[in-house]
Amino acid sequence: MNRKALARRRAEFMNMLGQGMAVLTTAKHQPRNRDVMYPFRPDSDFHYLTAFPEPEAAAVFVPGRPGGEFILFCRERDPQKELWDGRRAGVEGAVARYGADHAYPIDRLHEILVELLPDQQKVYTRMGQDPEFDSELFSTVSNLREKTRQGGRAPWEFVDLAHILHEMRLIKDRDEIGIMRKAAKLAARGHVRAMQCTRPGMYEYQVQAQMECVFRHGGSFAPAYPSIVAGGANACILHYIDNNCRLADGDLLLIDAGAELDCYASDITRTFPVNGRFSGAQRDVYEVVLAAQLAAIEAVRPERPVTDYHDVAVRTLTEGMVAIGLLEGDPDELIETGAYRKFYMHSTGHWLGIDVHDVGDYKIGDEWRSLESGMVLTVEPGLYVAPDPDVDEKWHNIGIRIEDDVLVTRDGPEVLTGDVPKDPDEIEALMVNG
Ligand code: GLY
Ligand code: MN
Ligand code: MN
Repeated sequence: MNRKALARRRAEFMNMLGQGMAVLTTAKHQPRNRDVMYPFRPDSDFHYLTAFPEPEAAAVFVPGRPGGEFILFCRERDPQKELWDGRRAGVEGAVARYGADHAYPIDRLHEILVELLPDQQKVYTRMGQDPEFDSELFSTVSNLREKTRQGGRAPWEFVDLAHILHEMRLIKDRDEIGIMRKAAKLAARGHVRAMQCTRPGMYEYQVQAQMECVFRHGGSFAPAYPSIVAGGANACILHYIDNNCRLADGDLLLIDAGAELDCYASDITRTFPVNGRFSGAQRDVYEVVLAAQLAAIEAVRPERPVTDYHDVAVRTLTEGMVAIGLLEGDPDELIETGAYRKFYMHSTGHWLGIDVHDVGDYKIGDEWRSLESGMVLTVEPGLYVAPDPDVDEKWHNIGIRIEDDVLVTRDGPEVLTGDVPKDPDEIEALMVNG
């Protein structure tokens, strides 16, 4: 993370706070079993403003405070604990390496808040995110209010930080776009490896291992979400993550997986034949999904409502399903009645950033918002045909999704994940040469 970019981001954030201060805490260590913890991953909002990578930390922002606007609270250095559990930045490192104006031990947070709060009208926090912290903060403020009769002062307004912060996070700055390009390229490499290594008879988790090996080797701490590696009928289970079945000759394999890099997600889906050759029916459905994805990407442009690219995908999918005989009827009517949802039951994408389903409103008031340069979103149409006596058997268990990450720019959509093929001929060629 570029320190100058972070300092600029914090300055912009503090500009928006007005007569208020902001307090946020990072994520907590989560137990996995007995005394084993899940690997620590910082809270996304906290990471966005601080890049401070340790647990048990809090950040306080006091715009205009002469003694320092950005205060970090963290664990102190402790040679004995560091010997067992790893290095700590300590309060010295928080200032020297993370740009804090001041840093204090985390157990002094409330004592120092008591000094800072009386000068504020508003307190911004991520309400509900850390209930233990919320409750301590509310009681600190209530105590201060009790003392107003003796001439003390206390803030009178609590505001949820989400609105300000998530609007900021929705528009990616140059530094973030740089990281997201790298995360997308790394994820693409992992998907290429998956296509190259897949053979009938392998287990889904073996393909997963090959792909995630590329992610980790490229510096990704972890996948951005549990990888979906779904052979055959499993592709029709949208959030399938068991990844424990054997891949059959003649089936398709759907992989939805992304590498997280420096806390930024990528999110790619590709679907390809286990044996390297699409059957006729598979290719028919594949080409409908691909046409829908390409058309939808074209609709990812500034000033177009965020709903447009979904509508384009639905129309292309529905017309395509009628053309290949998967659906019968008039496309307008099939869209109007929602009949297409039998095979396409999810939306066409979501914001992408520090979270895979990233923050930011999709509506402003009652209106769908328009796309703006600097937004990053996914474009991920699919078709899923679970066995059904009313549907010709040749389509049964075909589940296909194609997903790319797209940056909105004034010059048109920039596909960040274009390094992994999606044209069916290119996929077949890659698999033959794999
Ligand atoms: N992988 C989660 C999603 O595509 O939304
Ligand atoms: Mn995905
Ligand atoms: Mn997605």
